[in-house]
Amino acid sequence: MEKKTFVTREQLEEITKTYPTPFHLYDEKGIRENAKRVKEAFAWNPGFKEYFAVKATPNPRILEILRDYGFGTDCSSATELMMSEAAGFTGHDIMFSSNDTPAEEFQMADEMGAIINLDDFTHIEFLEQVLGRIPETISCRFNPGGVFKISNSIMDNPGDAKYGMTEAQMFEAFRVLKEKGAKEFGIHAFLVSNTVTNEYYPMLAEKLFELAVRLQKETGAKIRFINLSGGVGIPYSPDQEPNDIYAIGEGVRQAYEKILTPAGMGDVAIYAEMGRFMLGPYGCLVTKAIHEKHTYKEYVGVDACAVNLMRPAMYGAYHHITVMGKEQEPCDHKYDIVGSLCENNDKFAIDRMLPKIDKGDLLVIHDTGAHGFSMGYNYNGKLRSAELLLKEDGSVQLIRRAETPQDYFATLDVCGEMKKYL
Ligand SMILES: Cc1ncc(COP(=O)(O)O)c(C=O)c1O
Repeated sequence: MEKKTFVTREQLEEITKTYPTPFHLYDEKGIRENAKRVKEAFAWNPGFKEYFAVKATPNPRILEILRDYGFGTDCSSATELMMSEAAGFTGHDIMFSSNDTPAEEFQMADEMGAIINLDDFTHIEFLEQVLGRIPETISCRFNPGGVFKISNSIMDNPGDAKYGMTEAQMFEAFRVLKEKGAKEFGIHAFLVSNTVTNEYYPMLAEKLFELAVRLQKETGAKIRFINLSGGVGIPYSPDQEPNDIYAIGEGVRQAYEKILTPAGMGDVAIYAEMGRFMLGPYGCLVTKAIHEKHTYKEYVGVDACAVNLMRPAMYGAYHHITVMGKEQEPCDHKYDIVGSLCENNDKFAIDRMLPKIDKGDLLVIHDTGAHGFSMGYNYNGKLRSAELLLKEDGSVQLIRRAETPQDYFATLDVCGEMKKYL
């Protein structure tokens, strides 16, 4: 499928008069339309709730947009909890799906009334020590081990993942938690990341629904929700077929009718914690070509680097690139598109066929709306970029300013001459 940008060159030229590149730009219209589709796809389940994974795009203005659709947030740290609270989420609108959790974070989640999702059996005792009690609503994260297959192809290897409890631990956890006063239970699992198939959620749902029926029957614990977590993917590359969220919702419904309804569990709510699917395609990294270099390969140096988008350097991930204004020109030049880090993996694209790039051209790096800005870092003293929101009316809102040297130096024990930069 042809990958189109949600912004035109003319718009970008206007935006860059006020906000210098590089920056991340988000598409409010796209975010809203997609959120509406997600809501519709699961409308058959009255308790359905998407808890947006804050780690994907931690910005309160983005969270506020999603709150309009009745969504909650999924947090995994103290600062994500704080941000959710600031964006107006409270109580059971927050899911705390953390792992290796510090005591203070459990404490904070509990004070906010968030639903705590336990990653490990030993966290029961830990939580009880921290809070002096077990919350009435509690969730446990399941890891079935082994490999997760769809249509005979191995999707991922849950057995190697650090997350979640074994099946035996889930049974024991529900018994112990019930004894200690828990009244409403949830089951959570995240087995595969970025699945570009409509089968992942339905298959995961079947597994979790079957487990839920057995858990409720054998432990007497009242299961109130099943959290399918994240993992619904997006087509980063143009040859991938996008997921159809309506087909996914329908697949989960069929599994629900087949397994939960006949077991008298037709009141169980379905939760999700999607990050990538909610925001990925609705954000891009805008950068400018500032150098070209001709050695053993053809390089184009841009003003963004891996600190702005780590996925290509970290996973070799593909991100589509559009050279703005040259959409109709032939892709007859082979380039490595590189940033300025002293790291040879700082390449947004390797051997990519693109139209001829000239210095000053604006490049849009697609699908950076989730796990893009948020994975940023400060290597080489590089600063994090701004985040901008392209609003539905075409105006642009600065939703995070770019870092300054003052921000970078702010945590140092400052010596002598450096004071002049603060
Ligand atoms: C606990 C949890 N929930 C949800 C997500 C969101 O996943 P995705 O962005 O793939 O939907 C993640 C991602 O790492 C996660 O760790």
